Amino acid sequence: MSDVPEHDHIIDTGKSHLTLEELGHVQPGMARVMPEVGARIWKCFYAGKAKNKPLAAFQLKEAVNLMEMGVLLRPKYTDNMYKFIEEQVEVVKKAINDEDWDTFESSFHEMIDCANAYHEVYDKPYLKWKIPDMPPPDLDMTPRG
Ligand code: HEM
Repeated sequence: MSDVPEHDHIIDTGKSHLTLEELGHVQPGMARVMPEVGARIWKCFYAGKAKNKPLAAFQLKEAVNLMEMGVLLRPKYTDNMYKFIEEQVEVVKKAINDEDWDTFESSFHEMIDCANAYHEVYDKPYLKWKIPDMPPPDLDMTPRG
């Protein structure tokens, strides 16, 4: 006899059979989502430095998608995350759309300072994200055409 309630749904992953509850438990939390945010934000920065508007816009949008996924799974961060997206990220997004690369750079640094301030708010002052010194090695940053 299994201790799985009869009404529970069993999901066949192809390699295992999991209850919805078990599947819920293995969804990523902030500790898994945030490093992916960092990777996108790194790409966004160097795409902007290369004046590559579509790539910078794409990477920023993907970073926001991850942040939204993060708060779906960890709702306690929702208010501050949306405040961050609507305030800090929005300024960077507008600078990319306007191809205003000076504003892009200054607002980008402000966005990072703010992200690290949130890390402090959540009792993780030792998580101080910084832009890596070199562009990401796995993607060509140069604009097409
Ligand atoms: C540009 C924006 C951001 C970047 C690049 C970023 C980057 C990161 C990175 C790389 C980590 C993981 C560090 C590690 O474990 O190695 C992290 C952790 C974390 N971040 Fe962010 N972050 C950003 C914005 C935010 C915002 C806006 C919030 C909250 C509103 C937030 C909340 C957290 C929390 C709670 C953790 C700790 C997760 C855990 O291990 O429990 N971050 N962040």
